[in-house]
Amino acid sequence: MKIACLAGDGIGPEIMAEARRVLTALDLPGLTIWEGDVGGTGYKRHGHPLPPETLEMAQAADAVLFGAVGDPSCDNLERHLRPEQAILGLRQALGLFANLRPATMFPGLEDLSALRPEVAREIDLLIVRELNGDVYFGEKAIRTLADGRRQGFDFMSYAEDEVRRIAHTAFRAALGRKKRLCSVDKANVLETSQLWREVIVEVAAEYPEVEASHMYVDNAAMQLVRNPGQFDVVVTGNLFGDILSDQASMCVGSIGLLASASLGEQQTEFGVKGLYEPIHGSAPDIAGQGKANPMAMILSLAMMLRHSFGREAEATRVESAVAQALADGVKGADLGGNAGTDAIGAAVLERL
Ligand code: NAD
Ligand code: IPM
Ligand code: MN
Repeated sequence: MKIACLAGDGIGPEIMAEARRVLTALDLPGLTIWEGDVGGTGYKRHGHPLPPETLEMAQAADAVLFGAVGDPSCDNLERHLRPEQAILGLRQALGLFANLRPATMFPGLEDLSALRPEVAREIDLLIVRELNGDVYFGEKAIRTLADGRRQGFDFMSYAEDEVRRIAHTAFRAALGRKKRLCSVDKANVLETSQLWREVIVEVAAEYPEVEASHMYVDNAAMQLVRNPGQFDVVVTGNLFGDILSDQASMCVGSIGLLASASLGEQQTEFGVKGLYEPIHGSAPDIAGQGKANPMAMILSLAMMLRHSFGREAEATRVESAVAQALADGVKGADLGGNAGTDAIGAAVLERL
């Protein structure tokens, strides 16, 4: 089982170290671990945020464990050299079109949610975010118009097959959950969303057991804080999914808790090939201070064990250890506690 560990920038290496300790403690047979540079680190060491050797490593691996990228000192580089291109490039090169971002309330954290505890208690949802299309990957530029004004543009589009495949992923996920699916779009304004909605309606006909609904993204943002318990599976495009998942994290209590799996169609000997990363970024404001919560990274490792290696038992063990640590009051600064990155990792290991 070949795993490419790409720690990246900022808090990436700090949280990756804790996930690696957990992986080591599981003592799985037949593991090969590779390490590669990405993001600002990739740029500074090799002149590119996704150096060819890192891309080759990710292509050869059965799964990629990814920390975070982003470095303020790189924000004025040409776009193709910025750290974020590493994660966008990997998602595209590996065909990882389905991004699963689960948000579930951890028992004992209800009072730490940004929502009232009785509202937060009901959260058990899965955001299925399309990851290979939308305004992220369309033509974009800043151009100068004939009259001399500068204009920025980003082309938003979805082809029907792109919508259909993420719809199937989401409906299948709903079948394994509470059989409710809400598709989030902006069909009242965007043609991209109009087609999205039409394709979701077509695919819904193939899943009569699933109760499908449609919601405009502005309403969805409101409903997510008004009554998040109404959602089971939420399927949406790349941009809306990015935004709604950060919002969902604070409904649960912290962005330091939300993991993700990015999956494509490639199968390996062990399961589906995937990339696993926290939903948060490199958190430059706290990098190097030992304050980052590594739980989202550790929970991403659990998703890797489940989806790419068929190790459901170990995945559940890791998730239970995190939940138990939280229930026992092990909290980082992001949750109003004082446990540092190492201490949180150690607490999870102890419970494992
Ligand atoms: P961010 O998610 O890095 O941080 C937002 C806030 O949340 C910050 O205050 C940060 O300290 C806090 N935070 C995030 N993760 C935390 C953790 N594990 N524990 C405790 N606190 C945590 O978002 P940002 O500040 O908008 O972006 C910083 C950089 O990260 C940017 O360069 C951005 O492009 C990049 N980014 C990368 C990824 C990725 O690698 N997939 C995701 C999001 C943002
Ligand atoms: C995420 C991040 C990325 C995204 C950025 C860093 C490109 O915000 O993984 O949520 O927008 O997808
Ligand atoms: Mn994001």
